[in-house]
Amino acid sequence: MSVKSDVIIVGGGVVGAACARELTHAGRSVVLIDDGTISGEAWRASAGMLAPQTEAEEGDHLLELGLAGREYYATRTEELSAATSVDIDLFRGGILKAARDAEEAEMLKRRVGWQRQHSHHCDWLDPVEMREQWPWLGPTEGGLWAPGDGSIDPVALVKAFRADAEARGATLIGDRIHRLDLQPDGHVLGVTGSSTYLGDHVIIAAGAWSGRLDGLPRPISVEPVRGQMIAIPWPEEALPGVYFGYGIYVVHRAGEMWVGATMEHAGFDNAITPAGAGFLLSSVSKLFPSVAGTEPIRQWAGLRPGTPDGLPIIGPEPRAPGLWYATGHGRNGVLLAGITGVLIQQLLADEPPFEDISPVRPDRFWSW
Ligand code: GLY
Repeated sequence: MSVKSDVIIVGGGVVGAACARELTHAGRSVVLIDDGTISGEAWRASAGMLAPQTEAEEGDHLLELGLAGREYYATRTEELSAATSVDIDLFRGGILKAARDAEEAEMLKRRVGWQRQHSHHCDWLDPVEMREQWPWLGPTEGGLWAPGDGSIDPVALVKAFRADAEARGATLIGDRIHRLDLQPDGHVLGVTGSSTYLGDHVIIAAGAWSGRLDGLPRPISVEPVRGQMIAIPWPEEALPGVYFGYGIYVVHRAGEMWVGATMEHAGFDNAITPAGAGFLLSSVSKLFPSVAGTEPIRQWAGLRPGTPDGLPIIGPEPRAPGLWYATGHGRNGVLLAGITGVLIQQLLADEPPFEDISPVRPDRFWSW
């Protein structure tokens, strides 16, 4: 039996679900297909930071995209929660990035400087101000304070995107898609899993697994980057929030401190390791000395879809009309999911995208 729709989305994680939400709001008929049995998806493991200013390097294309991504949640949360009754736990209280040494302090001061030159609000705090405001932190050489950064609950967000899309008519299907089907002239025909699905458009949003489909016109430059996380009790004396420092970040979630994350090239192995937990525990103990000696309550890992230049792959496949990519979001899947949905909706409608997408265009890696 085959199912026919306007748009087929392969992958129901945070990016695929966001695309389904935006496309159904634009009146498209959407089939969202996800193999719910896969373990190691990035969104399930994610802490859900919205940290464009904390994480952006100077001149980084991700800054503008990330700011738009953060703004998307600020403006859509009420609408999403009214439509779905899901609380996505949007936190907009700012993120602190502490400098562990003089070299990091200089780098963060430069970051504050160039962001301010671009009219983005962020501050540099010297070590005395740091001690006054966050006395429970370990020794620092100062810190970058990004008052607009924050966090969101990724699992709730996916639930909300899916529910909102479904309420607008999307069909959610559990299946493992293994092949893209093209017509003899190269146009998209559909995809095949345990059934065949026909559509005018196919969007590949399968995260680290995006390149594993047979029948793609070219290889997709996405590879898994493992991120291990641990949870420990949130220390009583510390203000709940989001903090970076000593090579890790921590996010407050339901009374726990989620600490992440490693960046490991281990193929599709999403195993947790003693070395991963050891690195996270020793680093968080420098940032929050009172947690030294604490045992993790849980440890888990996810596979981010990494690309060679760290930017996502969003847009059309020139060789197969009707084929679109929304993948390769690396460390920024949650932050960029909503605006990826908006961009994909605009591109399918042949509307000018609200951001310049040339830095993320799919054919930048493949000239053959
Ligand atoms: N967004 C942070 C990470 O991927 O670890």
